[in-house]
Formats: sequence, structure tokens, C-alpha cells
Amino acid sequence: MPREEGKRPVVALIGGTGNLGPGLALRWAHAGYPVIIGSRAADKAQATAVELNAELGNELIVGMENVAAIQAAEICVLTVVQGVHEAALSDLKDELKGKLLIDATARMEFPKITPPAPPSAGRIAQTMLGDEVRVVTAFQNVPASAVRKNFRHPLDSDVLVCADDVGAAEEAMGLATDAGMRAFYAGDLDKAIVVEGLTSLLVSMNRHYKVHGATIKVAGISSHQTE
Ligand SMILES: NC(=O)c1ccc[n+]([C@@H]2O[C@H](COP(=O)([O-])OP(=O)(O)OC[C@H]3O[C@@H](n4cnc5c(N)ncnc54)[C@H](OP(=O)(O)O)[C@@H]3O)[C@@H](O)[C@H]2O)c1
Repeated sequence: MPREEGKRPVVALIGGTGNLGPGLALRWAHAGYPVIIGSRAADKAQATAVELNAELGNELIVGMENVAAIQAAEICVLTVVQGVHEAALSDLKDELKGKLLIDATARMEFPKITPPAPPSAGRIAQTMLGDEVRVVTAFQNVPASAVRKNFRHPLDSDVLVCADDVGAAEEAMGLATDAGMRAFYAGDLDKAIVVEGLTSLLVSMNRHYKVHGATIKVAGISSHQTE
């Protein structure tokens, strides 16, 4: 069904109770999106939503069990812990049909912080879910703590967006922009393995320099070229 002119789509964060989900939820709610925190447990999702609404000063965020969250949303953002990526997709496959899925998964192996081998998490998701789901990857390189902190202000971090469907990528780029980030289309879902791998570099840099917020910024593309 076409979206009503000017109306913000409902965004659900699957596994939105962890580190990354709440900061994204705050940023989208602040921009006027109706946001659903998803969890395996409805009461945990609701408790997170209450906490975030108190921070936000309104009631734009609600909490639901993951399946109900997906059913109520147009755009779903996957922020489950990296090790359960495939298991979560397998459990939620039917509900995701017809949705835009933004996959934030950045896999790496500890303790050596080894980057993942191809295929990318996004390619795995697209293969598992099939053509009825438009899969986009984004947000793998943004540090969760920075996303949540000062959520009313732009984030000093860029977002590389990959998808086979450029139109789907552009929708995700619009969401990233509304959340205060610059976003760039970076290629199809096979390219997303490089974006995932960058996160392992950033985590290594955090360790080496004893910081938490190493991230990326793109040079050489000016803002009028991204409009
Ligand atoms: N943390 C970062 O700075 C950061 C930055 C960029 C990208 N990412 C990526 O974003 C994703 C989320 O990272 P995170 O740090 O937010 O993860 P996290 O806090 O460790 O976990 C997120 C959520 O995953 C859910 N979960 C745990 N076990 C599960 C299972 N067996 N099945 C289904 N859901 C399960 C939990 O939600 P419930 O218990 O409520 O179901 C949990 O709150 C990861 O793929 C990560 O690579 C993280």
C-alpha cells in the first residue's frame, strides 16, 4: 500500500533492547518516526520503551515481541547480537515478507577480532529471505554509545549503505539522514563484506587507543553530490 504523503513509516528494531537499538530508536523518534522496540520478550521491550520515552519526553516509542513488532512496521532494522544473525532471520522469515530490512550486523571473531569471510551478513540475509524482502546493510561502523549520546544532534560518523536494490538503499539513506548521519551508497550486498570488515578494524583501533568511538568518515564526495 502506498504511504500517505508526508507520513513517516513505522520503524521496528528487532533485538532493539541491546547496545545499538536504543540509540537508533531515540534518533528516529526524535525525527518524528513511530518506533517499535522489538525483543524476544514483550515485557523487556516495553521496559526499554518506557526508559527511552522518558529520555525523549514523548510517547513515540513502544515495545513489542519481535514478531508483533515486524508485523506492525514497514521498515525493520536488525540489531540482534551478531552470533544469532542467521537463527534470528530463520525464526522471523515469514513475518519479514514485504518489508524493507536494514541489517546492521557486523560479525567478527573474538579474541583476535578477526573480520568475517564472505558472504556478507546482508548477502546471507537476502539469500535466506528471498526476493520478497528488500535487504539493505547499514550502521555497521557507527559506535552504539555515540549514537545514543547527544541523540538530538548530528553524529560525527558516516554510514555506508549497501543493497542490490538502489531504491531500497535510498530509503535507508533517508532514515540515516533523518537520524543525523551522512549516508552513502557503497554498492551491492557483496560489497557489504568490506563494510563489515571495517568494524573489526575500528574495534582493534578502540582497543589500541583505549577509546570507544572509532568510526569512519567519507572524503571526496561533497554534499550536493549526494542529494
Ligand atoms: N554495539 C555497537 O557499537 C554496534 C555498532 C554497529 C553495529 N553493531 C551490530 O549491531 C548488532 C547489535 O549489536 P549490539 O551491541 O546492540 O548487540 P547486543 O546488545 O549484544 O544484543 C542485542 C540484542 O540481541 C538480542 N538477542 C540476544 N540473544 C538472542 C537470540 N538468541 N535470539 C534473538 N535475539 C537475541 C537481545 O534482545 P532480547 O533479549 O531483548 O531479545 C539483545 O538485546 C550486532 O550485529 C552488531 O554487530 C553493533
